Amino acid sequence: MKVKVAILGCSGRMGRNLIQAAHEHESIELVGGSVRASSSFVDFDLGELAGIGAIGLTTSTQLSQLTDADVYIDFTAIETTLENIDWCQQHKKALVIGTTGFSDAQVAVIEKAGAVMPVVLAPNTSVGVNLMFKLLQVTAKAIGDYTDIEIFEAHHRFKKDAPSGTAVKMGQVIADTLGRDLSKCAVYGREGITGERDRETIGFATVRAGDIVGEHTAFFADLGERIEITHKASSRMTFALGAMRAAFWLSDAENGFYDMQDVLGLKD
Ligand SMILES: NC(=O)c1ccc[n+]([C@@H]2O[C@H](COP(=O)([O-])OP(=O)(O)OC[C@H]3O[C@@H](n4cnc5c(N)ncnc54)[C@H](OP(=O)(O)O)[C@@H]3O)[C@@H](O)[C@H]2O)c1
Repeated sequence: MKVKVAILGCSGRMGRNLIQAAHEHESIELVGGSVRASSSFVDFDLGELAGIGAIGLTTSTQLSQLTDADVYIDFTAIETTLENIDWCQQHKKALVIGTTGFSDAQVAVIEKAGAVMPVVLAPNTSVGVNLMFKLLQVTAKAIGDYTDIEIFEAHHRFKKDAPSGTAVKMGQVIADTLGRDLSKCAVYGREGITGERDRETIGFATVRAGDIVGEHTAFFADLGERIEITHKASSRMTFALGAMRAAFWLSDAENGFYDMQDVLGLKD
């Protein structure tokens, strides 16, 4: 049986890719998508939005018009996602969250929602990126204690948060593996007379330019050699397909707070 999915924020850059990925997925049935009440895409055909031709489903402005879905996929903005979590909690619906930029306190709210509904929080739904997290764990364990660790990320000019959710997660994975507290050891950008590098720090550097879909590199640098672990996304469809994988997996999951490592079976 197909899993019924609704896309929240379906007129966005990701939303349009999610419509196409859901519509073309053999195990998923797209049942609808939401836009803001003030959007110029109210009552718009979802297929037209995605550029794949009319599919006979029109946009909704309320989640209460989308109650048919088994799983909701949300790539919107922080405040909207928090409202959508409330609604999913009340209606005991599964939710895949792709929105990024949550504070620790907001993540705690999402984690708590996992007590009454299945929820995946995935700042990056790409399968390759999540495999990269695993490689970071292995590398940090082997050489992280004596190398300088720096994280670089680049995204398109429209991205609103920095560093990216994925870059922060990379730092978190490495810090957790090394028993460091990321809130104490992270350095976000450098300027002026910074002094010599403190080995315990994890540096972050951000580029925002043009139409870069998403690039991330972790450097583990010693004197004489360095390891670079890089992921480059060339199309948003990679995130959309990963989100479908998460939705399919979540449709059969118990209530709980999950991430893509759970979805992909990469947890130890
Ligand atoms: N997890 C991942 O792999 C991944 C990958 C890429 C992006 N992201 C994240 O996903 C989020 C969206 O990214 P994007 O590039 O698609 O941004 P975007 O183009 O700005 O899309 C966000 C969409 O959400 C809509 N929206 C906001 N509030 C809404 C509401 N109350 N009801 C219905 N729709 C609402 C916006 O509508 P309006 O246009 O009317 O404001 C917009 O169409 C960001 O947080 C981004 O960082 C995650």
